[in-house]
Amino acid sequence: MEIRISPSVLAADLSNLRGELEKVKNADLLHMDVMDGNYVPNITFGMPVITAAKRCSDVPLDIHLMMNGAEHFLAEFASVEPEFITVHYEAVTHLQSTLRKIRDLGIKAGVSLNPHTPLNGLKYILDDLDLIMLMTVNPGFGGQKFIPAMLEKVRDCSELIGDRPIELQVDGGIGVDNLADLIKAGANNFVAGSSIFGAEDPTAYIEQMRAIARQG
Ligand code: DX5
Ligand code: ZN
Repeated sequence: MEIRISPSVLAADLSNLRGELEKVKNADLLHMDVMDGNYVPNITFGMPVITAAKRCSDVPLDIHLMMNGAEHFLAEFASVEPEFITVHYEAVTHLQSTLRKIRDLGIKAGVSLNPHTPLNGLKYILDDLDLIMLMTVNPGFGGQKFIPAMLEKVRDCSELIGDRPIELQVDGGIGVDNLADLIKAGANNFVAGSSIFGAEDPTAYIEQMRAIARQG
């Protein structure tokens, strides 16, 4: 599966969104973290910032919904035509039908799992998934440290996916120092906030990530 880099806009200077997105034009996706202050202990942004990002950049959007009741807002998020809408395994009661609704809206469907959430249930809904996101920190905040035990989970998940066309995304504490290990474990899609936007030159940092990926 092709390696893809998804800078998390949460780590950008939102007072200069256009300028910040200009620096990550070479990314594959733009990761948008929606937090509701209920499912996670933090509030970020919703449609106004997402539509602003859409106006400033041609990079496809990758919307990560850390919220309860995500199933009631799917049409709204789909209206910006993101590549992915990802909901949380722990926050959606009827997960399979929610994933189906996302696909019915013409958007690729993703599910995100918190570090402690087992992979078991995914086995039965693999046909409904375009992306599995493994949280490699606890959701809620950017800039946290990668949880090393997640490497094993990435390996297990990669085995579960097998040769199905499902992207394996990791989110939280990702950067050039753990990228090679995660690629070896089977991840192909990398969300990175503070490492990319905190770099002196975010464009060059993304290229550095790509170079590491090419080395395999
Ligand atoms: C965490 C968010 C992440 C976060 C990643 O709850 O889902 O996408 O923005 O930020 P870094 O790369 O700084 O850990
Ligand atoms: Zn995220």
